[in-house]
Amino acid sequence: MQKESPVKVAVIGTGYVGLVVGACLAETGNDVTCADVDAGKINSLRDNHIPIYEPGLEDLVERNQSQRRLVFTTDVGSAIAKAEVIFIAVGTPPDEDGSADLRHVLTVAEAIGQNLKREAVIVTKSTVPVGTAERVRAVVARAAQYPFHMCSNPEFLKEGAAVEDFMKPDRVVLGAESDHARSVMAELYAPFVRTGKPIIFMDIASAEMTKYAANAMLATRISFMNEIAALCERVGADVDLVRKGIGSDTRIGPSFLFPGPGYGGSCFPKDVQALIRTAREYGVALSVLDSVEDANRRQKRRLFEKLEAALDGNVRGKHIAVWGLAFKPNTDDMREAPALTLIEALLSAGATVAAHDPAAIEESKRRLGDVIRYADSNYDALDGADALVIVTDWNEYRHPDFNRIKSTLRRPIVIDGRNLYGAERMRSMGFVYESIGRMPAADAVKV
Ligand SMILES: NC(=O)c1ccc[n+]([C@@H]2O[C@H](COP(=O)([O-])OP(=O)(O)OC[C@H]3O[C@@H](n4cnc5c(N)ncnc54)[C@H](O)[C@@H]3O)[C@@H](O)[C@H]2O)c1
Repeated sequence: MQKESPVKVAVIGTGYVGLVVGACLAETGNDVTCADVDAGKINSLRDNHIPIYEPGLEDLVERNQSQRRLVFTTDVGSAIAKAEVIFIAVGTPPDEDGSADLRHVLTVAEAIGQNLKREAVIVTKSTVPVGTAERVRAVVARAAQYPFHMCSNPEFLKEGAAVEDFMKPDRVVLGAESDHARSVMAELYAPFVRTGKPIIFMDIASAEMTKYAANAMLATRISFMNEIAALCERVGADVDLVRKGIGSDTRIGPSFLFPGPGYGGSCFPKDVQALIRTAREYGVALSVLDSVEDANRRQKRRLFEKLEAALDGNVRGKHIAVWGLAFKPNTDDMREAPALTLIEALLSAGATVAAHDPAAIEESKRRLGDVIRYADSNYDALDGADALVIVTDWNEYRHPDFNRIKSTLRRPIVIDGRNLYGAERMRSMGFVYESIGRMPAADAVKV
C-alpha cells in the first residue's frame, strides 16, 4: 500500500544508532524528528556538529536538516505526539549482573503511552532481550488512548560503516504482530532493499533473539580464531594462512576470522553478557558463550604479555608508544577498547605511554585524562619510546616508514596486535617483531 505523504517518524534516543536511523530515513523523504534528553547533543546537532566520528553522517544530517526533513528536539513528548512510527533507540547498557538495563527503554515507553495522539507503530530498535517488546507494550498500554502496534527491528549496522550499512543492509529483520505494522514498516524500508535484499518478517521474540544470536556468533568467531592463533604460535603454524585456508570454505566464509587483541566496542561484550544472563534465567546452558567471554578477557591481556616478554619482563620505567585507541578503525568509540586494557596494564606496571589515534584522542582524554601523552602524529608517539604496540588497524598504520620507526624507537621492538606487517620482513629489517599467531616454526615452543 503506497502512502501519499511522507511517513512521520520519531526516533527517541539520538546516539549512534538513533542518529543514523533518523538521518537515513529523512534522506529517503520521510518527516523525521530525532529526540534526546541530552540537550548538549541536540544543540550541537542543530548546528550540524556530529558528536561521533562516522563517515558520511555529517553530510546527511546537514542536507536533511536544511531541507527540514530532519528536526532535532529535546521535547520527547511532542516528537511522539505527531509520529506514525516511533523508534526506541536509547542505550541498553549492561546492568551490574550483565543483563541489559532496560531503564531507558521503559522510561521512553512511559512517555509514549502518555503522549500518543494517533494510531502508531512502536519499534524497538535498541538491542533488547526477548520479552522486552511485551514489557514496552504493557507500559504503553497503561496510559495510551490510541491503538498501537509493537514491532521489533534490531539494528545490524557497524560503527565506521554505519550509513552504508543502513542504506544497503544485508537484510532487514522485522518482528511484527499486525498487518498494519508489517505494511508500514515494509514501506519505510522499501528504498533500502531495492537490490533484492530481503525483509525477513518474523514474530517479535524471534526478532529480539536474532540480534543477540548474530552478535554472539560474530564474537564466537573472533574468540575462536584468537585461541587458534595462540595454538599456532605454539606449534609453529601461521594463523593468517590458516585463516585463508578455512575462510575460502563457503560453509565458513572469510569474515570475522581475523585474530587480534580481543573484541571490544559497545555491542559484543554487553550483548554476549546479556545473552548469557538470559540463558541462565531460563536454566539453559550456553557454555560456548561463557568460553567466548573468557577467551576474550585473556586475549585483551595478550599485547601486554607479549610486550613484557619482549622487554625481558621489565616494563617498569619504560616508555611505550601505542598506535590506535579506538576499539576498531573509522570510529572514535573506545567502549571496552583493548587499548584501555593495555594502557591500564602498562601504567600499573610502572610504564609511561604516548598514544596516537586518528579519531579517538578527544574520547581518550575524556576517559583517561592526562595520564598518558597524546601524540599529534603516529611518528611523534615514537619519540623516546622503548617499544611500539599497534592496537587498532587504521589504514594509515599499514604502510609506515619502517626506517623512521626503527631510528626513532630506543629499541626496535614492535608488538603488532593486528598482523599488519610481514613477520619475516620485519625481522630481516632488524625489528624484534611480535604479532598474533604467526610464530615461525623455528621459534615455536616444543612441549
Ligand atoms: N552502536 C552500535 O554500533 C549499535 C549497533 C546496533 C545496535 N545497537 C544498540 O542500539 C541501542 C543504542 O545504542 P547507541 O550506541 O546508539 O547508544 P548511545 O549511548 O550512543 O545513545 C543512546 C542515546 O539515548 C539517549 N537517551 C537515554 N535515555 C533517553 C530518554 N529517556 N529519552 C530520550 N533519549 C534518551 C541518550 O542521551 C543517548 O544520546 C543499544 O541498545 C545498542 O545495543 C548499537
